[in-house]
Amino acid sequence: MNRLNLSVFARPLSKKRGAELAAEWLEYVGHLLITPEVMSMGQYDHHFAISCYQHSVFVSFTAFRIARRMGWDTRAAARSGLLHDLYLYQPYDQSCHPGNQCLDHPLFALMNARALCPDLTDGEQNAIATHMWPLARHMPRCATAVAVTLADKICASIELLSRCRVGVIRRLLPAAVPV
Ligand SMILES: [Fe+2]
Ligand SMILES: [Fe+2]
Repeated sequence: MNRLNLSVFARPLSKKRGAELAAEWLEYVGHLLITPEVMSMGQYDHHFAISCYQHSVFVSFTAFRIARRMGWDTRAAARSGLLHDLYLYQPYDQSCHPGNQCLDHPLFALMNARALCPDLTDGEQNAIATHMWPLARHMPRCATAVAVTLADKICASIELLSRCRVGVIRRLLPAAVPV
């Protein structure tokens, strides 16, 4: 089994390697990035100055890299990573989610992701629904879900440790990745 060195995600890629990976990632999610639903995530706060869109792109690219390294389904990781937080409301607006945001937002994201992508696989749906694991109602039960929940934690840690500066995400992502 391939080993995963988590420190690579906190270092910028070389220009050449970044361009290669970005081209492959865009094949999977380029058409989703220009949908009104995904673009609208830019108006929702996620981690202070970092929008839900910026976080989701970061998670998608990181999940794609994890899947690539591990020999898992890269398309599924990129797609479900991009859609994992497609809840489409301001997290602090209690009128949108009267319950527990931590537990509920993956289910809103799954509902919106299904509407946007009717061809979502069971694994992609499981990845979206369980990305908050262990703070989730269900367990990750496939490699794609493991890639997305791991990427979400890596990206959230980098975002919070960098005091939520968007420039940090931009430095870690290739130039062709739109954040
Ligand atoms: Fe989330
Ligand atoms: Fe997330």
